[in-house]
Amino acid sequence: MLNLITGGAGFIGSNLCRALLERGERVRVLDNFLTGSRDNLAGLDIELMEGDASDPEVCRRACAGVDFVFHEGALPSVPRSVENPLASHAHCATATVVLLHAARQARVRRVIYASSSSVYGDTPTLPKTETMTPQPRSPYAVAKLAGEHYCRAFYLCYGMETVALRYFNIFGPRQDPSSPYSGVLSRFISQLLANQPCTIFGSGEISRDFTYIDNVVEANLLAREAPCAPGKFYNIGCGKRVTLAWVYEFLAGELGITAPPQYGPARAGDVPHSLADITAARHDLRYEPRVDVETGLRLTLAWQQGARNTGPT
Ligand code: UD1
Repeated sequence: MLNLITGGAGFIGSNLCRALLERGERVRVLDNFLTGSRDNLAGLDIELMEGDASDPEVCRRACAGVDFVFHEGALPSVPRSVENPLASHAHCATATVVLLHAARQARVRRVIYASSSSVYGDTPTLPKTETMTPQPRSPYAVAKLAGEHYCRAFYLCYGMETVALRYFNIFGPRQDPSSPYSGVLSRFISQLLANQPCTIFGSGEISRDFTYIDNVVEANLLAREAPCAPGKFYNIGCGKRVTLAWVYEFLAGELGITAPPQYGPARAGDVPHSLADITAARHDLRYEPRVDVETGLRLTLAWQQGARNTGPT
């Protein structure tokens, strides 16, 4: 069985890659290395294709002979999309329709698409359920939602099996902390480990349903098999939200750091609160978030401490 992972050199893609290899499956990775890293794939027995998923010829070659596609490739970050909406659209929306077209031509059995909780926007209702009308408020969220709609259109028009997973703020090992666009938890952990101050943008009361990577990897494997999933989209989170102030205190406490965080202005496009209702994923996919946020934070801290001492593995 051959799996294609777009964005396989990135944080989520490379973790998924490891899980598939551990199951004895074959993996082809397509990555443009805009945000992914070769370190994430070091020592893995995979077929690596360097190229951009918005290029039809690249996608045609990437999909040849493939059974399942995990489309993790994207240009993440809400603020990056606010600064450069065209790049966000090209790498999130255009790349998705190009890839779907190639997957259909190659008779791929199922495409699992990485969508985002950002599609819900800042509607006040919590938790977010899949029946709510999306209210995207950043170019990133719009592009991710467009990708979802393309997935559904390919299912409705051509009967191609597609499943969209709306990820809720994923964190864990191999998340790159080095960019200003990096996820907040990877930034806080690397800053705390380097004895640098952490800055909370906006109020410390901003909250997220932070979800450990292993839960997401499992959701992808389940979505590949679930008979009733095609044509649908599912929230993938923990069903619990914590504030940025809590996260900082927890991490600092684990490291014995007593310094308070700094505060800065809120970021444009940020959503104040996010929390997943995971009833549908539980029911249809048999998804269960096995790693809670505290355990995930401890595992990530330990990994980032190890990576600092020995270099990433
Ligand atoms: C959003 C999406 C998420 C998506 C991700 C891709 C929502 C609710 N979530 O994450 O599904 O996968 O984009 O990039 O839309 N922050 C700080 N200090 C920092 C860095 C960030 O306080 O040094 C704050 C941000 O202002 C934000 C929160 O932390 O309020 C989370 O930011 P981030 O980790 O970038 O993720 P989202 O933008 O929430």
